[in-house]
Amino acid sequence: MGGTAERLSESAGARLGAGERARAACAVRGGGAGSGIRADDAHTTHTRSAGMGKLDDRVIVITGAARGQGEQEARLFVAEGARVVIGDVLDGPGEALAEELGEGRARFVHLDVAREDDWAGVVEAAKGAFGKIDGLVNNAGILRFNELVNTPLEEFQEVVSVNQVGCFLGIRTVAPEIAAAGGGTIVNTASYTGLTGMAFVGAYAATKHAVVGLTRVAALELAGRRIRVNAVCPGAVDTPMTNPAALDPDADPAESARAVDELYRKLVPLGRIGRPEEVARLALFLSADDSSYITGQPFVIDGGWLAGVGLF
Ligand SMILES: NC(=O)c1ccc[n+]([C@@H]2O[C@H](COP(=O)([O-])OP(=O)(O)OC[C@H]3O[C@@H](n4cnc5c(N)ncnc54)[C@H](O)[C@@H]3O)[C@@H](O)[C@H]2O)c1
Repeated sequence: MGGTAERLSESAGARLGAGERARAACAVRGGGAGSGIRADDAHTTHTRSAGMGKLDDRVIVITGAARGQGEQEARLFVAEGARVVIGDVLDGPGEALAEELGEGRARFVHLDVAREDDWAGVVEAAKGAFGKIDGLVNNAGILRFNELVNTPLEEFQEVVSVNQVGCFLGIRTVAPEIAAAGGGTIVNTASYTGLTGMAFVGAYAATKHAVVGLTRVAALELAGRRIRVNAVCPGAVDTPMTNPAALDPDADPAESARAVDELYRKLVPLGRIGRPEEVARLALFLSADDSSYITGQPFVIDGGWLAGVGLF
């Protein structure tokens, strides 16, 4: 059986109510990147809780939702009664996910978040399919490793375009639609590197600090339009971004899982890498009425990594 972290999460599970346990089991099933809630689970959950989901009647745009954390957000939001618009540059996986979730529940739209024209297309597609938009999760992002002094300008600008400009364009384009629908929520995806530094990810950390700033300003400016804006700040999460071997057909999955386990057992107080389903549950909390009095805040979800300096 696993280490301290697993035992902790198991004892936390024992304290949950039956309904929450069922939902959590659904969300966590399968473990690593690309797993989690499947379409039939989502359908079952929705059917079981018809009229009782946390996002019933909501229409939510999720960027970068073809895989990783965005995919798990799309699956969980649909399970909680939402209709979702999946925007991504990865057409094949995005279309497949939308098809799996069902036409009445999900639509895929090709979206490069750095392109203004693409955002106009998202609004048109969402309103065409579902009549309104009342939520946005700005999740799309890219990571590049480089020392600052060796980072080419184009690489820095590429990261800014996707992570920072993409988030800005999302807020600017979708907030008026959310206001027109009577209010709603925006969840931006920053990072723990939006709150502290990390060597070799200068461009990325700069953009994630910017996302936290955008979150605070948007919260102030949009509160009067009944829109709450918050940010999730994940630590290390098991997706292709942190574990590119997951996408490499030649990599040995057992070997890469072992390397990931070994690294994060040492680094993270809870003793493991995070799961995309866990970030999805935080995005759900910030998109649902459970967080009705919260706006303008960054929420760290990192297994305790940022809590301080560990000795052992
Ligand atoms: N994985 C981590 O450890 C971690 C930690 C902190 C923050 N984050 C952030 O979480 C978010 C999700 O990342 P992930 O871990 O799921 O990684 P991922 O690489 O698996 O998923 C990112 C998704 O964004 C999409 N995307 C990339 N560029 C895009 C663009 N220009 N327009 C639209 N979509 C685009 C990708 O196609 C992919 O589907 C990102 O913003 C990332 O920076 C990740």
